[in-house]
Amino acid sequence: MEGARISSLPSTRIALVTGGNKGIGLEVCRQLAGNGVTVVLTARDETRGAVAVEKLRDLGLSSVIFHQLDVTDAPSIARLADFLRTRFGKLDILVNNAALSGLEYLQDHVDATSTESEEKASGMDMTQRLEWVLKRCRETYDAGKECLRTNYYGTKQVIEALLPLLQASDDGRIVNVSSEFGQLRLFSNEELKQELNDVTNLTEERLDEVLAMFLKDLETGAAEARGWPMVCSAYKVSKAVLNAYSRILARRHPTLRVNCVHPGYVKTDMTLDSGFLTPEEGGSRLVAVALLPAGGPTGLFFAERQEAPFV
Ligand SMILES: NC(=O)c1ccc[n+]([C@@H]2O[C@H](COP(=O)([O-])OP(=O)(O)OC[C@H]3O[C@@H](n4cnc5c(N)ncnc54)[C@H](OP(=O)(O)O)[C@@H]3O)[C@@H](O)[C@H]2O)c1
Repeated sequence: MEGARISSLPSTRIALVTGGNKGIGLEVCRQLAGNGVTVVLTARDETRGAVAVEKLRDLGLSSVIFHQLDVTDAPSIARLADFLRTRFGKLDILVNNAALSGLEYLQDHVDATSTESEEKASGMDMTQRLEWVLKRCRETYDAGKECLRTNYYGTKQVIEALLPLLQASDDGRIVNVSSEFGQLRLFSNEELKQELNDVTNLTEERLDEVLAMFLKDLETGAAEARGWPMVCSAYKVSKAVLNAYSRILARRHPTLRVNCVHPGYVKTDMTLDSGFLTPEEGGSRLVAVALLPAGGPTGLFFAERQEAPFV
């Protein structure tokens, strides 16, 4: 049946999750499938993706399909779009979850087991937990550049390729997995903060210029002096720009629902299992927005299960 259109199930919703092989993404796949949605679980690595799909099938979730997707690889995105077009002819829910932290993890700490991390992190507040993580990482220019390439440019390329399929749905939704680290209050450059919040005048070309400026400042060590957010700089900038792009998209495509969601501080590989929430709890916050009733809000940011400011 590969390639054949499933026309006998017109009411089945089709969702696609990027970076679905582990962490929050895997949980989102599990919960969407548990809600009767047909889920295309994507992963950049075929083996990791296939293992994840098997895990979900073992739980009795048979409506999960695997397709390879590296969000930074244009041919990979094109193959995925072809697959969806032929197989379903539409896409109802796109969850852009795949991301990098912009940090280089020090090998011996990445190998720490989840139990070890949990024991060390318990009793710490948010700041202490972050400090604990940062002691086990290095912020480098190369990791920062890769972070922007994945979190912003990769996500944007996926959205652009899948837009016609989302528009073919009668209720197309995009959930961009963002972060409270993308809130503009973390920028100390007031002019930039205002510009990134002024969605009526903001353009994609300007966002490209902003990112080019940031990378230059990161490379020359001028990031702090120029008012960019500090600590996990590239990650914060990537999510802030993703938020701005989401707002532009929401205005441009009023028939779609385009929202950004902070899942909370979650125990995953990205946080070296130091978060407060389980992937199940974090994932449920994203699924709640993905499954909002028809005609719901668009162009918003959600945190802690409610609307939150972009600033
Ligand atoms: N954990 C938190 O506390 C937290 C807080 C706020 C926001 N978030 C956001 O939540 C989302 C999920 O994060 P997580 O904590 O679950 O992180 P994670 O466990 O590190 O998972 C990240 C996922 O993204 C995938 N990925 C990375 N680069 C990719 C690429 N080029 N193409 C396709 N997939 C790629 C990874 O694949 P591989 O397995 O192949 O590396 C993995 O599946 C991210 O958007 C993150 O920014 C997380």
